[in-house]
Amino acid sequence: MFRVGSKSDLPKGKVTQAGKFAVGNNGEYFAVGRTCRHFGANLAQGSIDADGCLVCPWHGAKYDVKTGRMILGPQGIFAKIPGLGPTFKALTRALPLRRGRVVVKDDEIFVDE
Ligand code: FES
Repeated sequence: MFRVGSKSDLPKGKVTQAGKFAVGNNGEYFAVGRTCRHFGANLAQGSIDADGCLVCPWHGAKYDVKTGRMILGPQGIFAKIPGLGPTFKALTRALPLRRGRVVVKDDEIFVDE
């Protein structure tokens, strides 16, 4: 079990790293594997969008943190490559980001594999 920090360390809209996980607060705490399925960016350095999805810091792929699936493929120049987005989305249907279990004890947040 990894200690993430206190609740005040993870306000709504923030993402941080705890071990192999990107841990965030989109109104609920979540923990997903922190390696993007596209080129391996650290998703703990990503952001949370208005839909509560985790957005990759490199090329903007979006992940549903409940399922670990990519719901929007890589953006920018990668969005122009035919079939690339659907291919990565399909990949994460078969191999979603792993999800950790977030545990809150008193004021402390932990993530368990
Ligand atoms: S590395 Fe994440 S979208 Fe490219």
